[in-house]
Amino acid sequence: MRKPIIAGNWKMNNTIRESKALVTELLPLIKDANCDVVLCVPFTDIKSVVSLTKGSIIKVGAQNVHFAENGAYTGEISATMLKELKVNYCIIGHSERRQYFGETDETVNKKIAACLKYKIKPIVCIGETLQQRESNQTKDILKNQIIEGFKGYKSKDFEKIIIAYEPIWAIGTGKTATAQDANSTIKHIREVLKKYFGLSISQKTRIQYGGSMNAKNAFELMSMPEIDGGLIGGASLKAQDFSKVVNYDKK
Ligand code: PGA
Repeated sequence: MRKPIIAGNWKMNNTIRESKALVTELLPLIKDANCDVVLCVPFTDIKSVVSLTKGSIIKVGAQNVHFAENGAYTGEISATMLKELKVNYCIIGHSERRQYFGETDETVNKKIAACLKYKIKPIVCIGETLQQRESNQTKDILKNQIIEGFKGYKSKDFEKIIIAYEPIWAIGTGKTATAQDANSTIKHIREVLKKYFGLSISQKTRIQYGGSMNAKNAFELMSMPEIDGGLIGGASLKAQDFSKVVNYDKK
């Protein structure tokens, strides 16, 4: 019922030249994928990656957006600018943006609106730190991020929204949540969605797992009933590795 979605998050990696080489190598490797495939690339790579992937199954995403239409926000990029470049997805509220760039549930909430207005699908990241996990706060943290981040959004909006559950302690650390752990936390996320937004939204919303997902563990994670995809950092930077995650169902 929920189509799997595998998204690469290149973070601050790949010049235009490097991105061309990576995408050129990747395209033939993923052409028979059974899932939605997205590459969230640096702003500077968008134009060339959109042009290289035209007519393929790869859709292009950004990694951030400002919530305003335009104005005196030095260094920022708006959703209308992204739309003009044919961006289809945008990561919102990644933990690195929350940690280093002051992103909050409130800015997440506004950025979702900016994306939806321009028919850009938001990939909204939520997740707990190691310290929060160890002090048993995971459920509360996720609940708050959901209630505040998605405040005011309705069923029609959730059709476009993708949630990425990324336990912060698993990002870039090589530590992955066990498939069972990730599955049960995502189940909890669905329970919160059900309670605050309704049964249908909780059943229909696609929820990815992110945090050291790679060629080796993708199959097991993707076999879990609650996990609908992955947000892949490190392993999206090599065509071979990322293609194996995308082709997780082809053993
Ligand atoms: P990782 O990053 O796969 O390198 O852990 C995932 C992410 O930050 O989205």
